Amino acid sequence: MTRTPIIEMLENIGKTPIRFAMPGHKGRGGAAHDITELPGADNLYSPEGAIARAEELCAQEFGAARAMMSVCGSTACVLAMMGYFPRGSKIIMARDFHLSAKNGIDIFGIKPVFVEVETALGALQQTVSAEAFEKAISEHPDAAAVYLTYPNPYGMCADVERIARAAHEAGMTVLVDSAHGAHFGVAGLPKTAGELGADIWSVSFHKTLPALNQAAVLFCSENADGERLKASLRRVTTTSPSYPILASIDYARAWKAQKGEAEYAKLISIIEEAKLNEIEGVTRLATDDPTRIVLDVRKKGGGAFVEEELFKRGIAIESSDAANIVLITAPADTAEDFAALKAALNELPMAPIDIPEAKLVLSGGGAGESVFAYPPGIPIALSKAHMSEEEREYIALLKKWGYNIIGD
Ligand SMILES: Cc1ncc(COP(=O)(O)O)c(C=O)c1O
Repeated sequence: MTRTPIIEMLENIGKTPIRFAMPGHKGRGGAAHDITELPGADNLYSPEGAIARAEELCAQEFGAARAMMSVCGSTACVLAMMGYFPRGSKIIMARDFHLSAKNGIDIFGIKPVFVEVETALGALQQTVSAEAFEKAISEHPDAAAVYLTYPNPYGMCADVERIARAAHEAGMTVLVDSAHGAHFGVAGLPKTAGELGADIWSVSFHKTLPALNQAAVLFCSENADGERLKASLRRVTTTSPSYPILASIDYARAWKAQKGEAEYAKLISIIEEAKLNEIEGVTRLATDDPTRIVLDVRKKGGGAFVEEELFKRGIAIESSDAANIVLITAPADTAEDFAALKAALNELPMAPIDIPEAKLVLSGGGAGESVFAYPPGIPIALSKAHMSEEEREYIALLKKWGYNIIGD
């Protein structure tokens, strides 16, 4: 039986009846386990007890030298990756990064070298090309690190293994934002970023594993300096960590270790049996992560329309774009849920729309507030103050197509 040290600790300390301490709810009204650093509760800033033991188990399960829990999502982990390097360090970065990476560049004075990635209206977000990355590595031998997103929010995977090999040959540290890949590594799913050669990588447990929102873990291999990374994570973390979130990381790690293989095999077969491709007017697009479902619904009125119609019928999805809806699936989704989705999509009348061909090469830009569509949060323009004409036009088009644009 896999241990869950934080849950076991909370079961004990959560019984403390009188608390002249934070939080102000005093553990009453069902919040018994939401404690502060009471005696025996350990301390996320410098763990030595239950949190340290849970992190060791997490590192073992995910094949890392060290695991560091984050109660501030992968956002904090990505910032910590940037803050790991001295100010002015050069990092070669695939430009399809999440806005947290852009914020990290600004906050920690990183000198980025961008490897361009194309984005297109109503299309699967593609990943960086390994050739382009290798070229950047050979042109910038003074870079301290490379930075990649794997997988992207559409479940597409860059060739981390090949890029990591080139980076290591050049003596660079390999950083991977694997926020959407916490479930990777079990049979039938892509390998984890660590297995492919990442030195430092982060995963959002809350996105795909049974964990509370904001639950994430920052990992490193023997190649990285764990103490320096931990110090960097401390600089971007709340001083009031949520124990329920920590407990949910502990739970999800034990769940993955014990049941991950069986549960994901079941999920993959439920998805296959749902035959979502057999719905008239709906095309399931091929993704590298078989649990990330992207359905082209342009014949049914487009992504935003279908998202709204599904929600009216009690079905929420992760996101939509002009043509597609994107579903994050997990073993907690049942065959009945997929049947309900299929019935709702079948019910929607055919209403084809024409989506104009529009593309933008995500490229450079200055410091400051970025402009992005959320979800998925990939900056379209890196600097609101210095937007190019192409960026301005593309953002206007996205707005017209119902994207939720933030920062413009
Ligand atoms: C690729 C990517 N990286 C990082 C993040 C940030 O993760 P979190 O929400 O866990 O802070 C997200 C969130 O959507 C993301 O899509």
